[in-house]
Amino acid sequence: MKKLWGGRFTKSAEEWVDEFGASITFDKELVLEDIEGSKAHAAMLTECGILTKDEGHLIIEGLNRLKEKALKQELSFSIKLEDIHLNLESMLTEEIGPVGGKLHTARSRNDQVAVDMHLYLRKQVLIIIDLINEFQEALLEKAEKHVETIMPGYTHLQRAQPISFAHHLMAYFWMLERDKQRFSESLKRINKSPLGAGALAGTTFPIDREYSAELLGFEGIYENSLDAVSDRDFILEFLSDSSILMMHLSRLSEEIILWASQEFSFIELDDSFSTGSSIMPQKKNPDMAELIRGKTGRVYGNLIGLLTVLKGLPLAYNKDMQEDKEGMFDTVKTVTGSLKIFTGMIRTMKVNKEQMEQSVKNDFSNATELADYLADKGVPFREAHEIVGKLVLSCVQKGCFLADLPLEEFKASSPLFEEDIYDALNPYNAVKRRNSAGGTGFAEVYKAIDKAKKYLRAENYGDQ
Ligand code: ARG
Repeated sequence: MKKLWGGRFTKSAEEWVDEFGASITFDKELVLEDIEGSKAHAAMLTECGILTKDEGHLIIEGLNRLKEKALKQELSFSIKLEDIHLNLESMLTEEIGPVGGKLHTARSRNDQVAVDMHLYLRKQVLIIIDLINEFQEALLEKAEKHVETIMPGYTHLQRAQPISFAHHLMAYFWMLERDKQRFSESLKRINKSPLGAGALAGTTFPIDREYSAELLGFEGIYENSLDAVSDRDFILEFLSDSSILMMHLSRLSEEIILWASQEFSFIELDDSFSTGSSIMPQKKNPDMAELIRGKTGRVYGNLIGLLTVLKGLPLAYNKDMQEDKEGMFDTVKTVTGSLKIFTGMIRTMKVNKEQMEQSVKNDFSNATELADYLADKGVPFREAHEIVGKLVLSCVQKGCFLADLPLEEFKASSPLFEEDIYDALNPYNAVKRRNSAGGTGFAEVYKAIDKAKKYLRAENYGDQ
């Protein structure tokens, strides 16, 4: 097969060399974006009088036909034609004759591929934002049911202070809110048109870059033709935003895995999001959460991979840059898949309220209450901490918990202790009272849920 760029070559590469250089096996993912970009380019060339109206019409018609075929999966690509751009150009020429060759006037594959990826990421980022919204809805629904479900809060994975389970879930809601903001803000930079930058230097043809940008729904153009075809920072930004999102999902995965263990037994995952073991009949494994925790590594890898590909490249285009695509596609697939799974997993998981509550009763996570109790009565907090520390030690030696100690023993360590100390020690009260802004107190958590709902609604209807 004759190469579209074969003019200055006297011999062709062997097939396996061509295969090594080709990107069609993966950049066929950009088929619709490539057609869309070409249509806008053809329309612009026509508008600027570089193509005649008839030529422009023929080309756009041909591209529309290719689009229909693409949607019906009727296009078959050839590795000999290297990439999606050359494949489509050759198909167009087959479809409408030699006039198809005019489409590439005032354009290069370098600006073409950049446009395709901007269009692709713009679409995918919007999908990801929607999926984050759905996941946040699922977290909110669960949180609403569990404001008064108390559980141990941890630091260093040691019981620290009791908290509301809803408060724990809502922590993730706000992390996801920031993830979503990061993706939304990146759209500003993704939504710029590199089209018309040519190979690197612009073109002598009287093109109108603003016009093609507008047709493609971009808000403005890249200011510098070298920059437009050389940088992939918009992909790096997507990969970093995705890495941060995956890090959040991975932490929640880790918690889900712990909570589902027999040792914690705080939750039970639905059968539809768990798997069994081929040898141990009793097992119900949190595979999906484990897999998402694992897949976080691939997304980080894709980020580091592309950073490394780009770091030593002189301007402008270098073939190294073809390596930008697989990691991007893989990340889109991983992030969208993980978000969908998480939404279902959280919606269907059973919360073992009694077990969570039971576990806060049998620990020392109410020790701060005791110290606060004394501090409230004027004892300097450091001193109160010391007194309570000694009481905890005494309990540990006796094999009991703070609420098991008789009032006399409390009084012996400080005369300020009264009968109401038992109320303060009750973990339910301990949680209920923590109503500082953003705290785990029930009133605060209800407020946070209300606020979160307003946030989601406002975003969904675009009036924020
Ligand atoms: N397949 C190429 C890529 O993905 C398209 C751009 C090729 N440009 C070039 N000058 N060889 O990077």
